[in-house]
Amino acid sequence: MTKRRPLIAGNWKMNGLKADGLALAAGVAAKLKAEPNVACDLLVCPPFTLLAGVIDAVAGSGVAVGGQDCHAKVSGAHTGDTSATMLADLGCKYVIVGHSERRTDHGESDAVVKAKATAAHAAGLIAVVCIGETLAQRDAGQTFEVNRSQLRGSLPEDATAANTVIAYEPVWAIGTGRVATPAQAQEVHAVIRAELAAIQGPAVAERTRILYGGSLKPDNAKELLALPDVDGGLIGGAALKVEDFWAIATSA
Ligand code: PGA
Repeated sequence: MTKRRPLIAGNWKMNGLKADGLALAAGVAAKLKAEPNVACDLLVCPPFTLLAGVIDAVAGSGVAVGGQDCHAKVSGAHTGDTSATMLADLGCKYVIVGHSERRTDHGESDAVVKAKATAAHAAGLIAVVCIGETLAQRDAGQTFEVNRSQLRGSLPEDATAANTVIAYEPVWAIGTGRVATPAQAQEVHAVIRAELAAIQGPAVAERTRILYGGSLKPDNAKELLALPDVDGGLIGGAALKVEDFWAIATSA
């Protein structure tokens, strides 16, 4: 099996004013500078207001920066939106698309997510494409089918292991403190990888990173990140503290 280098990604969501956000970024950068041989890639995704400052704060450290969303168009009359091209121009390397909070709060469909991921690729960004079932869907026995169909609907045709990361985030585990068991996580990750193989071919599937997200914390990270098909994490709450984020990174 190909060894995939884990990606540990912090999704700060709508959190952080200048002082604490920049201190958090500088703290993560300092950890990586002190211990550059950590066995994972590190990414922070601050709110738009902090992107430029965070890019400066982590410069030269090896910590990558990403947006939490982008528009599907390059430019134009889209008040309040930010394009993938703008993110790339600023110095971002990644962008999260299709987070369940975007799908819920802004009614984003798979087609919208796919258009955003396509725009991210065109701008030279790595798209972190999020999928995941709700509790009602899990209880109804639809977990595999929902994740397969979201993947098929959200993944651009040009997706490769180099320009795309998948994040499996069961909606019931996000911000709830309720984490998927290792068995639950592994079985869905394996289903996602098999579906990816069916869509893009086994070579792409074997090399593509599939992150787990949903109440990932220092005390549960080790067993989840050790699973064969879990290639890192997308972390919300625990990414807001340098020590917690770093503890997760070092358990990868
Ligand atoms: P959480 O969020 O770690 O706070 O559950 C994860 C996410 O939504 O990316």
